[in-house]
Amino acid sequence: MNYTEPYIPTPEDIIPKMLALASVRPNETVFDLGSGDGRMLIIAARDFRARVVGFEVRRRLVNECRRKVKSLGLSHRVTISRSSFKKASLRRADVLALYLSGYTLNQMAPKFLKELRPGTRIVNFDYEIPSWTPAREISVTPAGWKKPHPIYLYVM
Ligand SMILES: C[S@@+](CC[C@H](N)C(=O)[O-])C[C@H]1O[C@@H](n2cnc3c(N)ncnc32)[C@H](O)[C@@H]1O
Repeated sequence: MNYTEPYIPTPEDIIPKMLALASVRPNETVFDLGSGDGRMLIIAARDFRARVVGFEVRRRLVNECRRKVKSLGLSHRVTISRSSFKKASLRRADVLALYLSGYTLNQMAPKFLKELRPGTRIVNFDYEIPSWTPAREISVTPAGWKKPHPIYLYVM
């Protein structure tokens, strides 16, 4: 089945917690697979001084992200590709910072195993990678949400 994840943005206040859980360091390369309006990329580039790469299929979101990145003066740290992450090479990533469903994570798991280098970290908001064991799991309550939600960390 050809399922495309809907656009549901990660709550902004959760993103620094995800990147901190992944221990993102300056000049590491962070990928967001399905980068939406670019909020994960922008916080990683601006506040963690990472180099970031986003893949997004929805043209409106890619344009919005490019506009924001330019106006914040972050273009030297941010690359956005309007293409499917299913076809992207993940080999350069130090960290994948994601908000993807269990269904898509399960589809991507063989690609993660094939392409990600040992030590690469994956953080995902709300959903586990089915049948993988997380290295850590924390619980966060986004501003305005009623209940805590998990963030999962995996280390290749
Ligand atoms: C749940 S949203 C997460 C957005 C963003 N990562 C965030 O944290 O705010 C998933 C995003 O993946 C995008 N997407 C879905 N399938 C994709 C694919 N095959 N390649 C690239 N982007 C995709 C959707 O358009 C959507 O913006």
